[in-house]
Amino acid sequence: MMRGKKSVSVLCGLLLLAGGVAFAGQVTGQQQKEEAYDENTYGPANPIIMTKPLKAVVFLHKAHTMGAGLGCDSCHSGIFEMAAGTAQEKPDFNMDSLYKGKYCGACHDGNMAFASNTRCSTCHVGVRGYNRLTGADAKGKAGHH
Ligand code: HEC
Ligand code: HEC
Ligand code: HEC
Repeated sequence: MMRGKKSVSVLCGLLLLAGGVAFAGQVTGQQQKEEAYDENTYGPANPIIMTKPLKAVVFLHKAHTMGAGLGCDSCHSGIFEMAAGTAQEKPDFNMDSLYKGKYCGACHDGNMAFASNTRCSTCHVGVRGYNRLTGADAKGKAGHH
């Protein structure tokens, strides 16, 4: 009996140790990834989530700067303010404006980037996407990051 218990606790100790090492490895990996993404060079790391008028549209700096090679000026010299939530307060922030070449539609015209009247769900992540991105899914309420 005694020997059996002891070997169980030794086994548990080993498993804990292995788990700890794996966890430490994960944390280091994450830190390295975040260091490789420089917000000064590529813009905010967090997704920008637009909820008006329709919940929700996602904008990722990473895809546009690091990915598509755009400079900050392509958007931040007239198309968008450097303040999340500004555009969605404007009454003409809708598909009609995009189709006329405003906001995202300045590039999402089928030439420079995929057209605004295609691939709806690439931009529109919906309520489920919103919950996933904000962590509301896991916690069952709007999460904070
Ligand atoms: C393809 C377009 C685009 C490019 C390129 C771009 N941004 Fe942005 N940026 C946006 C949009 C869209 C928003 C949100 C504006 C809004 O909601 O009205 C934003 C918001 C921001 C914000 C405010 C974030 C917040 O939480 O309030 C900062 C800071 C920013 N951008 C920095 C940068 C920097 C630095 C670069 C270049 C490295 C850059 N952006 C390149 C489109 C762009
Ligand atoms: C200055 C030009 C420009 C503006 C403005 C712009 N985009 Fe883009 N976007 C691009 C380019 C270029 C790509 C990459 C080429 C492609 O996918 O067609 C891209 C790609 C994307 C993608 C796909 C990224 C991925 O993860 O694969 C999404 C989603 C997107 N844009 C959403 C938006 C939204 C939402 C807005 C407005 C808030 C916006 N974009 C404004 C140029 C722009
Ligand atoms: C390039 C990104 C992008 C693509 C592609 C896109 N949308 Fe949008 N859409 C937006 C943005 C940005 C808004 C305004 C912000 C919001 O409502 O959250 C918006 C708003 C809307 C709205 C509410 C405002 C309005 O115009 O009535 C509807 C409905 C809509 N989109 C439908 C669609 C459909 C359907 C498609 C595909 C045929 C589509 N969108 C493709 C970015 C996009």
